[in-house]
Amino acid sequence: MNDASVLSARGLSKRFGPVVALEGIDFDIRPGEVRALCGENGAGKSTFIKLLTGVYHPDAGSVQVSGFHRPIRSPREAQAAGIALVAQELSVCPELSVEDNIWLGTLDIPFLHKRAELRRKARAALDLLGMQAIPLDVPLSTLSLGERQIVEIARMLTRDAKVLLLDEPTAALSDNEIARMSAALRSLKREGRSIIYITHRMGEVFDLCDTVTVFRNGKHVSTRGIEGLERSELVELMLGRPHDAMYPPAQRTSGDVRLSVSGLTIPGRVSDLNLDVPAGTICCLAGQIGSGAEEVIRAIAGLEYAAHGEVRVNTRRITLGSAESALRNDVMYVSGDRAAEGVFQELSVGENLTALRLDQHTRAGVLQRRSLRDKARDLARQVKVDVGRLGSRANELSGGNQQKLAFGRCLDRGRPGVIVMNEPTRGIDVGARAEIYALMRQFCANGHAVVVASTDLEEVIGLGDSVVTLYRGRRVGSYPRGQATMQQVVTDITHPVA
Ligand SMILES: Nc1ncnc2c1ncn2[C@@H]1O[C@H](COP(=O)(O)OP(=O)(O)OP(=O)(O)O)[C@@H](O)[C@H]1O
Ligand SMILES: [Mg+2]
Repeated sequence: MNDASVLSARGLSKRFGPVVALEGIDFDIRPGEVRALCGENGAGKSTFIKLLTGVYHPDAGSVQVSGFHRPIRSPREAQAAGIALVAQELSVCPELSVEDNIWLGTLDIPFLHKRAELRRKARAALDLLGMQAIPLDVPLSTLSLGERQIVEIARMLTRDAKVLLLDEPTAALSDNEIARMSAALRSLKREGRSIIYITHRMGEVFDLCDTVTVFRNGKHVSTRGIEGLERSELVELMLGRPHDAMYPPAQRTSGDVRLSVSGLTIPGRVSDLNLDVPAGTICCLAGQIGSGAEEVIRAIAGLEYAAHGEVRVNTRRITLGSAESALRNDVMYVSGDRAAEGVFQELSVGENLTALRLDQHTRAGVLQRRSLRDKARDLARQVKVDVGRLGSRANELSGGNQQKLAFGRCLDRGRPGVIVMNEPTRGIDVGARAEIYALMRQFCANGHAVVVASTDLEEVIGLGDSVVTLYRGRRVGSYPRGQATMQQVVTDITHPVA
C-alpha cells in the first residue's frame, strides 16, 4: 500500500462465468481527493465499487484501507473500515419515512441513542444538500425519483466515512441539485474525506473532480489530473476511438399532429398544460425535479390516476389513468427508473426485448418460439446489446445496457403512435447515448412522435425538435429547434417570468 493512500487496491480481478468484468486493477486514492471513475457501460465501474464494499469477492487481488488491517469481506466490514456507498440503483425502502431511510442499515447507532439527536443529524444532512423543503416524516414513496436519490446521499453523509463512493449519484438530478451536491462534496473534501465518483455526465467530471480514472473492458486505461485534460480526449480514452457527432440531424416531418394534450391537470403537480407534437418529431420537456415534466409523461402513459384534461393520440382520446387505454392507443412508455419499472429484472434479456409482442408471434394460439428468438436477436442487434447474452438475466447486465432493453421493447411496433420517456439516457455512456438518440430518430422516421422529459439540459437542446420549459407544473416557454439557448432554458426553469 502506498503510504499517502487512504485506500489502495492491487491486482483486482473479477469474472462472472465467461464474462471478465475486471482484470488486474491497481488503484490508489489520497485523503481529500475527488476521483472520477469513467468508462462505457459495462466497463466494470460498479463491479469495482462492489469489490471495494465487500458485496463481491475478488477472484484475485486485494483492497487495503489505511488503519484497517483486515480484508473487507462484507458490506458490514466495509462500513467498519470507513467506506460508504451510494448505489447506482436506489436501495431505499419506499414505505418507510425519509428519516428511517436515512438511518437504514447504519451499524453503530447506540442502543439508547436519543431520537432527537438522530433527527437533528438527518435534518442537517438534508439541509446540507439544499433539501430544506423535504419533511422527515413523510413516506419516501411520496418523493420524486430525484428527491429519493438525494435522500440516499443524505444517508451516506450521516455516516462518518473516510471514503465515499458515489455510483452515478446525479443521474436523475437537475442542474440546480447538481450545484447543491457539488457544494456538499466540496465541504466533505475540505474535511479530508476522499470521494470516488462515477458519472456519465462529462460536466461533472470537470466541475467536481481532481483526477480521473478510466476503465475500458474491465481494464485500467489511464489515471490523470483533470487540469489540462480535454473533453474529447477523455471521451476517446473511454471509447478507445474518436467520438463522432452526438445528435443526429432532424428529419422533415409530415405535419400531422400525432399527440395533442389540452388542459392536462394533475392536482398539486401540473396545471392546465397544452402540447401538440407532430408525427416524426421529438419534443423535449425541460424542467428541474418537481417541475411536473415527469408527471406529464406518466399521465400520457396512463399512469397518473388523478390526471384530468384531454390527451389524444391520432385524434383518438385516451382514458386518463388507464395504462391499458394508453397502450391500446399506441402509447409506449420508457421509464427512467429501470430497476422499478423499466426492466423485468428476473427475466432474460431476450424475454425483456420481446415482452410486449407475444401476440405478434402467436399462430393459432401457439407461441412461435423460433420467430420470437429471431426477433429478440434482431432487436438486440438494433439496440447494440450483445447477442450472446440473450439468455442472461436482465439484472446481470450493466445499468446502461438495461436501459437499452427498455428501448428495444418499443422498436418496430405496428402503427405509428407516441413514445414517451422519462430521463431516457439516465446512466447511459457517451457512446451509447449517440446510439440511443439515433434510435429515437428511427422512431421518428417510422412516424412516431417522441416526448422526452429530461433534466439534462445539454440533451434537451441538442435533441429536441421543440423544447417546452416547465416550472412548478406550468408551461413557461416553447421553442422550435435551434431557438432554445442554454441560458434561456435555465432562466425559464428556475426564475419564470410572472
Ligand atoms: N452479477 C453479475 N452477473 C453476471 N455478470 C455481471 C454481474 N455484474 C456485472 N456483470 C458484468 O460485468 C461487466 C461489468 O459490469 P458493471 O456493472 O461493473 O459495469 P459498469 O461500468 O458499472 O457499467 P454502467 O456504466 O452501465 O453502470 C458487464 O459485462 C456486466 O454485464
Ligand atoms: Mg454501473
